[in-house]
Amino acid sequence: MKVLGISGSLRKASYNSAALRACRELMPQGMTLEIAEIGDIPMFNQDVFDAGMPEPAKRFRAAVSAADGVLIAAPEYNFSVSPVLKNAIDWASRPPNQSWQDKPVAIFSCSQGPLGGARVQYDLRRILGQLWAHVLPRPEVFIGSAPGKFDAQGKITDESTRKFLTDLLAGFGPWITRMQKK
Ligand SMILES: Cc1cc2nc3c(=O)[nH]c(=O)nc-3n(C[C@H](O)[C@H](O)[C@H](O)COP(=O)(O)O)c2cc1C
Repeated sequence: MKVLGISGSLRKASYNSAALRACRELMPQGMTLEIAEIGDIPMFNQDVFDAGMPEPAKRFRAAVSAADGVLIAAPEYNFSVSPVLKNAIDWASRPPNQSWQDKPVAIFSCSQGPLGGARVQYDLRRILGQLWAHVLPRPEVFIGSAPGKFDAQGKITDESTRKFLTDLLAGFGPWITRMQKK
């Protein structure tokens, strides 16, 4: 099972990107994680889309379409989705052959605040739901107060955080299988 990882943060020291990289080692047997680059995708413009998609957008759409599932690590910006993540979602959402159709998705969020991105996840579910992506309902994973849970190299130091992510990934495999049967 090929999973595409997307981090909604472009920051070098991003906690979301660090947690996503950690997921590579936590993947259950038979599942692999490849992390997408979204920082080079230009801002969405329907005129540009119509004239011919820029290469990074084309590449991203193809990667989402080819993946068995998509794992999103979402920072919370002003109670909602970061612009770079929403932009990538939008590029992949335009017909024909929008990439999110029937795509199994799992999400988690990391925040420096105590709630761990409690609000962004519900906006993401709303956005992806109307694109007919199928977001794993549970477990919900919110990594709050993130600076105390990673070392300076971005490795997870908090055992509960590692366990929450392990449980999320363990639930994602059967969810992918179940959604692919539909
Ligand atoms: C524009 C902006 C808005 C933010 N809004 C929120 C917010 O609504 N809730 C929250 O918990 N953190 C918020 N933060 C702080 C982020 O949690 C923090 O920057 C976090 O480290 C971002 O994720 P990253 O480490 O993966 O880049 C905001 C940060 C930025 C830059």
